[in-house]
Amino acid sequence: MTIEIRPYHPTDLASLYRICLQTGDNGNDASGLYADPFLLGHLWAGPYAVLEPELCFVLTNDHQPIGYILGTADTATFGTRCEAEWFPPLRQRYSMPAPGDNSREAASIRQIHQGHERSNQWPEFPAHLHIDILPQGQKQGWGRKLMEHFCHHLAEQGVGGVFLGVSPDNGNAVDFYRHLDFEPVDGQAGILAKRT
Ligand SMILES: CC(C)(COP(=O)(O)OP(=O)(O)OC[C@H]1O[C@@H](n2cnc3c(N)ncnc32)[C@H](O)[C@@H]1OP(=O)(O)O)[C@@H](O)C(=O)NCCC(=O)NCCS
Repeated sequence: MTIEIRPYHPTDLASLYRICLQTGDNGNDASGLYADPFLLGHLWAGPYAVLEPELCFVLTNDHQPIGYILGTADTATFGTRCEAEWFPPLRQRYSMPAPGDNSREAASIRQIHQGHERSNQWPEFPAHLHIDILPQGQKQGWGRKLMEHFCHHLAEQGVGGVFLGVSPDNGNAVDFYRHLDFEPVDGQAGILAKRT
């Protein structure tokens, strides 16, 4: 078993979608919760890997992807690019759910129609990130290494800070981020940030 971090390659995209789904229920496998296995990836993996591949890094075990870290150096520009380049075909593919549909699938489709943030409320933290590792790669120090790798690349680009969103229900992730000195922004428990 050889675990290592390497840059994203376009052939990784399907693996990133799979990992996104298999960690999509507050860190646990969400496969049983979505009839469409691609919805979470369309939102939280695909646009970052495709639009900002230089900030996407893959964790592999014997060359098979088992985790990733990805994000954007500039949240506002990324959200604007998603509007122009990523979401339009998805909005044609997934029509708006009925108002009374409270399923998780419906919530994801509404998010596709809403898009990602086109402005950044926290100028001192222009970047944001997502990190997901399958259970076989967890608790061995790879999460820390991925975060350090990502922040190092941001710092090299002159980006001074990064934020992330986390559900307070994902206690494992919250404790991990807090251990790595991420702090709540504006008193919001679900938004944590750190200077690079
Ligand atoms: C959250 C996640 C990225 C953490 O990665 P990991 O590889 O398991 O964490 P590491 O082994 O690198 O831990 C790094 C440090 O954080 C600490 N840590 C990790 N989890 C912790 C926890 N729940 N509570 C306290 N400390 C924790 C470790 O002890 C370690 O400390 P050290 O480096 O000072 O010795 C990973 O578990 C994961 O991908 N989970 C599923 C998907 C998910 O929830 N993603 C986040 C969505 S917002």
